[in-house]
Amino acid sequence: VFEDASLAVCEVAKEIAEAIRARQAEGKSFVLGLATGSTPVPLYRELVRMHREEGLSFANVTSFNLDEYFGIESRHPESYHRFMREQLFDHIDMPEAQINIPQGAVAREEVFEACQAYEEKIEACGGIDVQILGIGRTGHIGFNEPGSGPHSRTRLVTLDRLTRLDAARDFQGEHNVPRYAVTMGVGTIMDARKVYLLAWGRSKAEVIKAAVEDAPVESLPASFLQAHSNAYFILDTASASELT
Ligand code: F6R
Repeated sequence: VFEDASLAVCEVAKEIAEAIRARQAEGKSFVLGLATGSTPVPLYRELVRMHREEGLSFANVTSFNLDEYFGIESRHPESYHRFMREQLFDHIDMPEAQINIPQGAVAREEVFEACQAYEEKIEACGGIDVQILGIGRTGHIGFNEPGSGPHSRTRLVTLDRLTRLDAARDFQGEHNVPRYAVTMGVGTIMDARKVYLLAWGRSKAEVIKAAVEDAPVESLPASFLQAHSNAYFILDTASASELT
């Protein structure tokens, strides 16, 4: 638990940078799992600063994003492709070919195969070294809404009403928010060697308490992280305020 988000992200960014540099020293690549939404924005800002001011290179990094809205083109203003470009990829030296984000603009009959290919690519790259997560008020990680099982893999999912309401402002109205998304599964996330779940602000306090203190259940997918041997909840005092 940190006093505020900026102190918290400095710590996480430092650990990620150390891990990337250690791999560089061995001439090996590093696989980073990334999230979107407002939560990781200050983390990406800090990584960009480290790239500009401290010479942190992402040349050996391969990234896999958690999710993308289904049925929207990558150039859509609210696509996660666009978000990642604006917040991170346009400002660092990660080669284009090493960036992976689930495709939202695939035909429905091709989604299953695309999801399988995504899983296979993660595996072919040696698995995810560090996965960054946010948490939704439904308890989702990625877009694994309540009802997602602990062994779920990358797939097409239906977004929860609360998640769509939370996204309504960005999309200028709930009716514009996609109903479906493609997301890595809980099982995909659990396979990452290290997980950082970040959460800031009072609005996340209840869901953080339930995820950390209640028994793991499908109705709150983030609670499955309790069974991960190397998962960290990185919180500010407000999001930690309901913890006993
Ligand atoms: C985004 C994602 C979601 C968000 C969550 C929190 O890639 O996977 O799980 O992390 O909805 O969103 P924010 O950070 O906007 O509160």
